Amino acid sequence: MKKIAVLGSGVVGQVLADGFLAHGYEVMRGTREPARLAEWKGKAGAKAAVGSFAEAARFGETIVLAVKGTAAESVLDLCGAASLAGKTVIDTTNPIAEKPPVHGVLSFFTTLEESLMERLQKRVPAARFVKAFSCAGNALMVNPKMKGGPPTMFICGNHDDAKAEVKAILVQFGWEIEDLGAVEAARAIEPLCILWCIPGFLSKRWTHALKMIEA
Ligand SMILES: NC(=O)c1ccc[n+]([C@@H]2O[C@H](COP(=O)([O-])OP(=O)(O)OC[C@H]3O[C@@H](n4cnc5c(N)ncnc54)[C@H](OP(=O)(O)O)[C@@H]3O)[C@@H](O)[C@H]2O)c1
Repeated sequence: MKKIAVLGSGVVGQVLADGFLAHGYEVMRGTREPARLAEWKGKAGAKAAVGSFAEAARFGETIVLAVKGTAAESVLDLCGAASLAGKTVIDTTNPIAEKPPVHGVLSFFTTLEESLMERLQKRVPAARFVKAFSCAGNALMVNPKMKGGPPTMFICGNHDDAKAEVKAILVQFGWEIEDLGAVEAARAIEPLCILWCIPGFLSKRWTHALKMIEA
């Protein structure tokens, strides 16, 4: 089992860190303020650790990036490119802009010609980014139980070995997978977050998931 770094002290970081621990992985969570996660570490057991972003990135053989979209590039800088080189980076982030939704529709700070993951891949070319978990609510990220069967996780990235690793994790976590190809597909995957959030903002429905179905 690879050692997992989960970069992020928010709810996504917690859910995925707990999910990896439940599946038997060793996990270090990264944050600018490790003391903030002391309580989580105390409850999470012997395979759980907490450190700075840089310490977690050094520890992880596989990295989960679960930070605010506006901070994602600076968190990669805090990790240091050398600690990310050659590693799979599971990119859960969404480029949500710092303004309120309009009629339930979020704004992004990116364009349809350049996704956040493309920016991240350019910032650390030696890391192997795979978009995943960005189009799912945190409550359903690990072993979702849905009436309609397993939901679909839309993923993409330039590195087939990294995607194979992420696909194996997603199968463990109870997901069907739709691999949409290279990093540019993040231009389509990231906005699924906007779609997913609309029922939440308009009618407080946050327990749905997306599924690809065939004729
Ligand atoms: N919430 C969901 O259900 C959901 C679902 C799918 C995808 N996502 C995406 O997953 C990511 C994480 O979401 P979240 O709700 O767990 O947490 P969040 O509040 O979006 O992000 C929290 C993390 O961002 C870091 N951060 C914030 N500002 C920073 C700055 N200026 N410099 C460095 N780091 C900074 C924080 O660092 P510190 O630890 O140092 O405070 C913390 O670790 C987001 O990109 C979100 O769009 C969320």
